[in-house]
Amino acid sequence: MRAVVLVGGFGTRLRPLTSNLPKQMLPIVDRPMIEHVVGHLAAHGVEEVVLSLGFLPDTFRNAYPDGRCAGVPLHYAVEPDPLDTAGAIRFAAEDAGIDEAFLVLNGDVLTDLAVDELVGFHRASGAEATVSLTPVDDPSRYGVVPTDTDGRVTGFVEKPPAGEAPCNWINAGTYVFEPSVLGRIEPGLRVSVEREVFPAMADEGVLYGFRSEAYWVDTGTPETYLGVQLDLLDGVRGPARSGVDDAAEIHPGATVRRSVIGPGVVVAEGAQVCDAVVMAGSRIGERAVVDGSLVGRNATVGPEAQVLGLSVVGHGAEVAAGELLSDDRRPEQD
Ligand code: GDD
Ligand code: MG
Repeated sequence: MRAVVLVGGFGTRLRPLTSNLPKQMLPIVDRPMIEHVVGHLAAHGVEEVVLSLGFLPDTFRNAYPDGRCAGVPLHYAVEPDPLDTAGAIRFAAEDAGIDEAFLVLNGDVLTDLAVDELVGFHRASGAEATVSLTPVDDPSRYGVVPTDTDGRVTGFVEKPPAGEAPCNWINAGTYVFEPSVLGRIEPGLRVSVEREVFPAMADEGVLYGFRSEAYWVDTGTPETYLGVQLDLLDGVRGPARSGVDDAAEIHPGATVRRSVIGPGVVVAEGAQVCDAVVMAGSRIGERAVVDGSLVGRNATVGPEAQVLGLSVVGHGAEVAAGELLSDDRRPEQD
């Protein structure tokens, strides 16, 4: 089977980390996010991945110059303008010449979903499209998807107001599409699969939902992007592992706890890094504190500075000596 993976969004909620780097090229512990996503597909026998690109497409081309990612051949489909999710799927599927049932993925989701079971369920139900579903506590950030007892989707509500969701099973961002779905999407226009295509298909009774309680995280916010990496360190997903790269330089008088420390990072004497991600080449100065926060590549946290409470420091940014950031972004965002 082939898979279209959507990676063309602007990643606005993760700015400034995504101001000049697509979300799916940000690291998850030791590899770019896209390699985790494609690696999972490869483990389920996917033979080609079509990357649906818009924002900064050359970043992907340059990272995979031989056209393979996690061992899987890539096809690059670059939209001339952002076409939104459905427009992007149609564009990419046509660009790659897809004419059989195929998978579609939101490229910012990390999951252990049994893709083979999803496909088996899709075939058995005779659906035109099947959406994987996962249960969450707060459905208001997602597409909410009630089903009947056979799994037929009875409605699709994208990001309902808090407290108004009809259930807590949400669109988990992996779909199986029959090629006929493409004919429902007007070519060359911005069309949303969640707000237009799925609600119409639910009304016709041709959309099914496959419920799964497998590990699932949408990494699109600072909280979830950090959390998914702490899950890997904690052994919540697979065996627990260290997040400290061999090529990091940690002073014996520094404290590093439950954190991802990338290659070339320097953590100076007396510094404390806890529950945090510090990307390649950054420097954490003497007695500085980084706690529950994200620091991009080649950034500098000056001596005695404090970066706390889900703060986000962009690539190459500087936090001055002694400065305090709490739930803040550097450079500041509008
Ligand atoms: N090529 C292309 N073009 N890709 C796009 C575009 C576009 O115009 N817009 C968004 N994307 C990509 C993003 O890069 C991301 O991988 C994926 O589409 C989903 O976009 P997000 O911006 O991450 O959406 P979301 O997280 O708010 O909501 C979506 O995901 C939830 C589950 O993770 C929806 O599909 C919800 O219904 C769903 O519950
Ligand atoms: Mg998302």
